[in-house]
Amino acid sequence: ISAQDRAILTLYDDAMHFYHYLLLNTAVGDAALAYLHRRGLDDSTIDTYMLGYAPAGDALFQYFKEKNIDYQLLRDSELFIEWDDGSLHDRFVDRVLFTIRNQSGAPIAFSGRRMSQDDSVAKYMNSPESSIFDKSNELFNLDLAKGSIRKTKSVILFEGFMDVIAAFQTGVTNGVASMGTSLTQKQVQRLGRMAQGITIAYDADTAGQAASLRALNLIEQNSAAKPQILHIPDGLDPDEYVRQKGVEAFQQVLKHNLEDPVAFSLRYFRQDYNLQNQNDIFNYLEQVLPVVAGVKEPLVRQTYLKRLADEFDVSLDGLEEQLRHLLLQKT
Ligand code: UTP
Ligand code: MN
Ligand code: MN
Ligand code: MN
Ligand code: MN
Repeated sequence: ISAQDRAILTLYDDAMHFYHYLLLNTAVGDAALAYLHRRGLDDSTIDTYMLGYAPAGDALFQYFKEKNIDYQLLRDSELFIEWDDGSLHDRFVDRVLFTIRNQSGAPIAFSGRRMSQDDSVAKYMNSPESSIFDKSNELFNLDLAKGSIRKTKSVILFEGFMDVIAAFQTGVTNGVASMGTSLTQKQVQRLGRMAQGITIAYDADTAGQAASLRALNLIEQNSAAKPQILHIPDGLDPDEYVRQKGVEAFQQVLKHNLEDPVAFSLRYFRQDYNLQNQNDIFNYLEQVLPVVAGVKEPLVRQTYLKRLADEFDVSLDGLEEQLRHLLLQKT
């Protein structure tokens, strides 16, 4: 690591402490602190994650200016936006700040959440890539979770910061987030080297479920880890679920709502069909039979077939026959 990168890392660490201080100890941070409390985070969680508040204006720039930090270094840090006149301005303005740390725990980027409902501005704004931040390789919370991941040999993959943090606060400490839905091959390989099982715990909305299917395939193709999907009931985010239903209920879901890839696929593809309609039933079965055909263990395969036959009142023999055709086509 270069001297320049080391200096930039120091800036991020300073900035994290500065934003955290503003959140906890100044009047400008009051609304942000109330926001985090309202979302169910307690003070010790806020400390653990060094959550912060970036106020309006150029507070961070002023702070570094008073410390006589080199101007070129500030430019290279990506903590600021450069205007046409060459002046630097705070990138994060009036946002609650989440710090993204590398696997060693060093701050390397921020993500700021707006507190208002206003849809015309992005909900989260993230640091761009920089010499210290390779977005496609990082996972939020890996530094705090790695011990627990190695011990339990399993990792839970969430969509967002708040999901990881809410889970952590309930004692579920092996969670990380891909920060959005675009999980990468590098992230999967990284998790596959640390864990034998990867639980996908994305949001239960349409976007989250589509991303789950994508993540599932990515894990199967890029790691030896066994993927499972956590089905959060009622269309909720993990974070919303904890808030609305409580810690106990969340732990029950973690224990009982795990799906293997086939069970997930059978549920996932249902949404495309009206299963009251006979024709849709046949089309659905045609879509999911190849998934069942992919199951190597005959007994497990049989179980899924039986389940489908029972649910749609079709003959098991017929399904088996069709499955045999599919298996023959594959070889
Ligand atoms: P979500 O839209 O599910 O947000 O996006 P969330 O995590 O539930 O956020 P809250 O609970 O409303 O605060 C999941 C993740 O996608 C990234 C963030 O990392 C977010 O946590 N994201 C989302 C962005 O980078 N930018 C956005 O504008 C929105
Ligand atoms: Mn520090
Ligand atoms: Mn989402
Ligand atoms: Mn979400
Ligand atoms: Mn959420």
